[in-house]
Amino acid sequence: MRHANPTTPPSPPFWLLAELTYRCPLQCAYCSNPLAFTRYQDELDTEAWIDVLTQARAMGAAQLGFSGGEPLVRQDLETLVKEARTLGFYTNLITSGVGLTAQRVEALADAGLDHIQISLQAADPELAQALAGSSKAHANKLAMAKAVKAAGYPMVLNVVLHRHNIDQIGELIALCDELGADAVELANCQYYGWAFLNRRALLPTREQLLRAEAETQRWRERLAAKGRDMSLLFVVPDYFEQAPKACMGGWGSIFMTVAPDGAVLPCHSARELPMAFPNVKRTPLQDIWYRDAAFDHFRGTDWMPAQCQQCDSRDKDHGGCRCQAYLLTGDMYAIDPVCQHSPDHALLDGLLEESPQTATIPDLIPRNARQSRRLTTESALRPAPTLIYRQ
Ligand code: FES
Repeated sequence: MRHANPTTPPSPPFWLLAELTYRCPLQCAYCSNPLAFTRYQDELDTEAWIDVLTQARAMGAAQLGFSGGEPLVRQDLETLVKEARTLGFYTNLITSGVGLTAQRVEALADAGLDHIQISLQAADPELAQALAGSSKAHANKLAMAKAVKAAGYPMVLNVVLHRHNIDQIGELIALCDELGADAVELANCQYYGWAFLNRRALLPTREQLLRAEAETQRWRERLAAKGRDMSLLFVVPDYFEQAPKACMGGWGSIFMTVAPDGAVLPCHSARELPMAFPNVKRTPLQDIWYRDAAFDHFRGTDWMPAQCQQCDSRDKDHGGCRCQAYLLTGDMYAIDPVCQHSPDHALLDGLLEESPQTATIPDLIPRNARQSRRLTTESALRPAPTLIYRQ
């Protein structure tokens, strides 16, 4: 494999995402975990995670996210938070709130957790149940959002928006307001993992998106008029954009994910690429970050298609998202189809047009172990890789 721009040594990682487990009590059809998550059940134990945290901190990582799956499934979460805090990380918990109790909120606060983000599926319990596959989750989330606020955390709520809940945006913002949220991320679904599998039944229409943006703006004005300080961040789905995002701030630039089984990845979706990734069970993080061929593969600009190399945005968007390019075209070296100059850009318009307006929640394939096993024995999940490790 060639190494891109070998004269420029990478900066140390700034962000570590610790995906503690792929286990999750919910079944959200837009989950970004790999479809084959059931293949990776050999989770790192407490000691191994502490070693990962220690190595990453020694390399200079300062921000740490605990996620999953559902990280609260791990009974050693409080121990890991405490260790991370002692090491000097700023610690974030990214959770569905399922498995959280008032006692655990307190224990996490005692351990020194800095920040909690809870996700909501919908504004009402019926839709939330249909989307998450749990009858109790919604009420528990609301109770825990209040407990988190009472414990003195800044309350950040996250809602993944898609065709089935985006028209509730006004009710969702009202609910977050009632709960006393300090910040709300209205994050339109991005299409990786299970969300990619379910993309045709999840994509909102352009009209839905425009209505939701306008409603968010009305709410911003309403909140400002009543002196309420609750920030609303509205994230547009990539598929509706004309320019690619600087995914992860550039491959292997600032962001490192450690998956539950110890695989080390430049982004949470990378294990769906036709590449081999290292594992912290066998290789020190320092060697992975600075010397592993997969981490080096999409650094810099040498790997880019000629058109991207000549583009003025090449150092801003770093060539867009490799996972998106692969999922949409079957070629991980392709220009990110989100870019309006990509020859594959029309794919996105086609997807928006062909997505059935009539798709309902039962059309979604839920993210669960049974479906993971079924799907990963099928070969036609996505386009076959056309290129592996181009030289
Ligand atoms: Fe993997 Fe964008 S999510 S490079």
